[in-house]
Amino acid sequence: MQLDPVPDSPDRPGVRYRHTPGRFSLYAVPMSTLQNRIGIITGASAGIGEALAHDLARLGARLVINARREDKLSEIAAAYPEGQIKVVPGDAGDPALSKTLMQACEDAFSGKPNLVVVNAGRGLRGAVTDSNTDEWEEMIRTNILGASHLMREAAEVLTGQMTDPDANPEGFGQDWASLIDQDGPPRDIVVLGSSVGRHISPFSSMYGSTKFAINSLAEALRRQMAKFGVRVTLIEPGVVRTEFQESAGYEMDGFGAFMDRVGPVLKPEDISRTIVFAISQPPAVHINDIMIRPTRQEYP
Ligand SMILES: NC(=O)c1ccc[n+]([C@@H]2O[C@H](COP(=O)([O-])OP(=O)(O)OC[C@H]3O[C@@H](n4cnc5c(N)ncnc54)[C@H](OP(=O)(O)O)[C@@H]3O)[C@@H](O)[C@H]2O)c1
Repeated sequence: MQLDPVPDSPDRPGVRYRHTPGRFSLYAVPMSTLQNRIGIITGASAGIGEALAHDLARLGARLVINARREDKLSEIAAAYPEGQIKVVPGDAGDPALSKTLMQACEDAFSGKPNLVVVNAGRGLRGAVTDSNTDEWEEMIRTNILGASHLMREAAEVLTGQMTDPDANPEGFGQDWASLIDQDGPPRDIVVLGSSVGRHISPFSSMYGSTKFAINSLAEALRRQMAKFGVRVTLIEPGVVRTEFQESAGYEMDGFGAFMDRVGPVLKPEDISRTIVFAISQPPAVHINDIMIRPTRQEYP
């Protein structure tokens, strides 16, 4: 990715524009914001999490990245200057992991995270009637319980970085004003939901139920966090071609035909670019949720 050293925007000093040579310039990225970011990404060894790790690292963020496959995480970290990315292997369904990830930020960067991306998750082929019951528990543990533990820990850490608006409204007002004046860094919790967490798909309803849970928990957390100036952003992708389809056990001939019909389907980079756009907004602007589907996917 090329980041051209262009002059500050006349409208927003300090904001630099990202240009892809020869292509339409898609968005303005407030670089100062991303360079001040300390982020945690779960599920960063593949797919959407991996693409996001690369995008954020290229834009200067320091990251703690998690998944179970340490070798894949280490490969990502090795592509950036030493010390920019800390690898923390582990099971996202483990309730202890969220605290370990927060501590890793302190150890690696002497600071708390201001961005937590709750991404680790897996799919499962089938409905309540025909999905593999042996896989229910692991999916629920990862997609709901692990995600909830991380959202809870993130909420605690991110709100703890500011004065409590209820206990000390004046102090909070000063904190908030200076955050806005300095253009951040904002505080973000980004949660990967799904289009099947909003629209019922009988063909993957067990998986969909975990995303209905996550979608509602993210919106509830957004309502709780708003007064603290913490943004909780729900990303609801449609079909993205990643390892997801294989690990969900989709029958690839049939799913391939579906992808042909609605495709081209999304790439992980499409979701990553969307997340970068959302978190790059100034601290007082919050894009609450984004559903992003392949153009020709009408459903779910
Ligand atoms: N692909 C889609 O069509 C789609 C659509 C809507 C929503 N989503 C959601 O987007 C998120 C990312 O999916 P993806 O498409 O990027 O899938 P993916 O390519 O299969 O990647 C999943 C990531 O999560 C990690 N992971 C899975 N279980 C884990 C666990 N127990 N502990 C730690 N890490 C775990 C995997 O790494 P390890 O195997 O190394 O642990 C991998 O890094 C998921 O929450 C998914 O539900 C995907």
